[in-house]
Amino acid sequence: MPAGILHGKKGIIFGALDEQSIAWKVAERTHAEGGQFVLTNAPVAMRFGKIHELATACQTEVIPADATSVEDLENLIRQAQEKLGGKLDFVLHSIGMSLNVRKGRSYTDLQYDWMQKTFDISAISFHKLMQSLYHMDAMNEWGSIVALTYIAAQRVFPDYGEMAESKALLESFGRSFGYHFGVAKKVRVNTISQSPTMTTAGSGVKGFREFYDYADKMSPLGNAPAEDCAAYCVSLFSDFTRMVTMQNLYHDGGFSSMGMSPALLS
Ligand SMILES: NC(=O)c1ccc[n+]([C@@H]2O[C@H](COP(=O)([O-])OP(=O)(O)OC[C@H]3O[C@@H](n4cnc5c(N)ncnc54)[C@H](O)[C@@H]3O)[C@@H](O)[C@H]2O)c1
Repeated sequence: MPAGILHGKKGIIFGALDEQSIAWKVAERTHAEGGQFVLTNAPVAMRFGKIHELATACQTEVIPADATSVEDLENLIRQAQEKLGGKLDFVLHSIGMSLNVRKGRSYTDLQYDWMQKTFDISAISFHKLMQSLYHMDAMNEWGSIVALTYIAAQRVFPDYGEMAESKALLESFGRSFGYHFGVAKKVRVNTISQSPTMTTAGSGVKGFREFYDYADKMSPLGNAPAEDCAAYCVSLFSDFTRMVTMQNLYHDGGFSSMGMSPALLS
């Protein structure tokens, strides 16, 4: 069998909770392409136990880390390098959670302590992760850091609530840190703006099923499945995209370029 496009590459994959998770598919695809990695998720996610099944299938291990804790992140990065035997070539940030959305608070009635926690989990964790990688000099040259995002950062989707601002912040951190990481260490940073996807995080949004169907009709290619998102992530981890950085890349079947679709009028 020919070596996969990630042969010899090492990394960390955040955010695999269950088989629906986008990060779960990324882990499977990365493994199939010859990449080696450790899996991580918040300690509370260990309770579900599923991530250990994925680790077994991918012949790796899980190192718990709360992505809002710099101490946890530094420990994870240290342990990952020890286990993998060197610096990292790819990192996936696939983390999102809104306390106000989860608790059903409307956008005009937000609880600000929850909003700050949402920003910390869903966006500032990305900066904390990159700053930890940067200070620990943990990335190889031409390494790739990818985070998942959603088009509500640019357009209004009323039921997405404060996650819209979380994603705007996340994308901005990607651009700004992409500059510093590029100049200092030739590391690239990108965000992938994915279609609505049936996962735990996705289906927590009110009216998600209806919205999923709407986006599917609006997109000339239909909604992009999680498996294709995984393939896109793998391409960004690989050497085929070495000069792509500081981009927000739409992976959405064409949704972001549409104005009106006759499919929705019939
Ligand atoms: N599902 C969608 O429709 C969709 C669309 C576009 C972008 N995204 C983004 O994709 C990413 C992955 O989400 P998903 O849809 O696979 O759902 P998911 O629920 O499977 O994944 C979210 C992950 O975040 C983890 N997490 C939450 N708090 C954490 C913390 N403090 N520390 C570490 N991890 C923590 C969860 O345990 C979970 O594994 C998110 O950034 C999400 O916003 C999802």
